[in-house]
Amino acid sequence: MPTSRSAPVPTDVHSFARPDQVRVRHVALDLDLDFGAQVARGTCTLDVERLDATAPLWLDTDGLELQRITRGDTDTPLAFELQPRTAELGQALRIDLPAGCERVTITYATAASGAAAMQWLSPAQTSGDQPFLFTQGQAILTRSWIPLQDSPAVRVTWDARIRAPKGLRPLMSAEERGGDEASGYTFAMRHPVPSYLIALACGKLEERAISARCAVWAEPEVVELAHRELMDMERMVAACEELFGPYRWGRYDVLVLPASFPFGGMENPCMTFATPTILAGDKSLVALIAHELAHSWSGNLVTNATWRDFWLNEGFTVYLEQRIMEHVYGRERAVMEIALSMQQLARELRTLPAADQVLHIDLAGRNPDDGMTTIPYDKGAAFLRRLEQVFTRARFDAFLRGYFDAHAFQSITTLQFRDWLRQELLSKSPELSAQVDVPKWIESPGLPDDAPSAESAAFAAVDTVRSAVAREKSAAALLAIPDLAWNTQEWIRFLGGLEVDASVMAAIDQRHGLTRSGNSEILCLWLELAIAASYEPAMPRLEQFLTTVGRRKFLKPLYEALLKTDAGTVRAKAIYQKARPRYHAVAVRTLDPMLGYQEPSENSTKR
Ligand code: BES
Ligand code: ZN
Repeated sequence: MPTSRSAPVPTDVHSFARPDQVRVRHVALDLDLDFGAQVARGTCTLDVERLDATAPLWLDTDGLELQRITRGDTDTPLAFELQPRTAELGQALRIDLPAGCERVTITYATAASGAAAMQWLSPAQTSGDQPFLFTQGQAILTRSWIPLQDSPAVRVTWDARIRAPKGLRPLMSAEERGGDEASGYTFAMRHPVPSYLIALACGKLEERAISARCAVWAEPEVVELAHRELMDMERMVAACEELFGPYRWGRYDVLVLPASFPFGGMENPCMTFATPTILAGDKSLVALIAHELAHSWSGNLVTNATWRDFWLNEGFTVYLEQRIMEHVYGRERAVMEIALSMQQLARELRTLPAADQVLHIDLAGRNPDDGMTTIPYDKGAAFLRRLEQVFTRARFDAFLRGYFDAHAFQSITTLQFRDWLRQELLSKSPELSAQVDVPKWIESPGLPDDAPSAESAAFAAVDTVRSAVAREKSAAALLAIPDLAWNTQEWIRFLGGLEVDASVMAAIDQRHGLTRSGNSEILCLWLELAIAASYEPAMPRLEQFLTTVGRRKFLKPLYEALLKTDAGTVRAKAIYQKARPRYHAVAVRTLDPMLGYQEPSENSTKR
């Protein structure tokens, strides 16, 4: 059965909230952005539903400086208590609610030492001459800039008024309502969304329309390039609607952020946030947009109720992404993307602890970030491709559409998904159901043998060349193919898993100029090889890349490769010293332990 409004709330080990007692239904923000002090300050008004008339309101916060808490629309102060700070989950805030009180206003500022969700960039860290701010809420960072029930099981409608310095334009993950520089810009989200999808960016931003409902936003220096690269957005939205049902969020815009953005993309409703590293110049990395757009169904419409159900967001989204790519760019391209997804998965499975290889992962006592491996993404998608294979595409598509419709604007657990699957697909064809071991796929480590493989003829040809290069230990095999005109996916296939020495690298580089590549995916793989082979000519480019790009997916393997040798470790530490102040808290959290970095002293650096 789909969840209803009154369905029991699952236990979320990553939140202090008690939505089973008092449930926040609406959030109203009124914030001033102070770029000088790098804090946001103002009010947050919460409308609550009181399921237990005597229970207090428990909220998640992290580092917020609370000024006062009043009964909504009055000056009557409410008693509250801020609990001690915990390592991973921030601070619980208890607010005592008098009888009949259903609105609470919190006057606050974000931490002067920096909110984990917010990255304030100096002009030097942007493409232009103005500062920049963006937030990243997923998974449990929203509490560091908004006091609320920071659990994906709690959905709220929300609105906001944001005031920023002259010349800086605030954008949010919602419908824009108007306003201006003087009174502040206003936004409203009328669908209930989980807290991690409330997002804000502010900088010198320009818009370029793609269609009536799609546009790109970016800094003026980047906006033309971004516009050309993302031209196919409207076609993607149209493909999605054909495949999965109506797009329910009004506009679909993409904001291209400065390079320090720690992720590839973030599916903030109405306004995907994206890294500029997808701007390759030839649309070859736009699958990332297909992915973030797909979240408008899997993730934003139907949301994981807790972070252990994360695969419901990402596995479905990778599957949808692959379907969009097939629809817009053809089967060949889609098969390549699938093969690369399976290759990544196979690689990570070799080193990942068994407990972390499970789709329905146990994250109690851990940061939800620990679950962000290829498992929820690529194993999750493989499971859905297996269902499609067994039940046929026509029936699986009908199932998917029904799933999105029945759970629209709800947060569900893996258990609820399994019930729905049984009811709507498995029980209708017992003979086919016997061909998929659902509990094994969802609850066991490893990749089941029935995972569908992806056969790409183009990749088979690439593999032949790669084997020849590796066998002959020379680039001759590669150079011997006169009209080698590989696309990005073929280069990624070739470079992933290549083992060559510096002389072969030099020969490849001479012919194909990979050290100069403007394609971030190709470049990152190439630099990894360069580190392993001690190919010195690529080292200045490596340093430049690591000091300008903040995308964790690239930083992690490159630092990891460096840390394999003593000389590399010295280089890694020197670069990290320089680059760290430019990285987002999310990336720093991953990299600090890897590099054995210790903050000089408390409060001395501002993050
Ligand atoms: N929602 C994720 C990003 C995310 C996940 C942020 C968990 C914080 C916690 C987003 O949709 C995503 O998966 N981005 C990928 C790109 C995608 C093409 C696989 C990324 O950023 O690399
Ligand atoms: Zn995703």
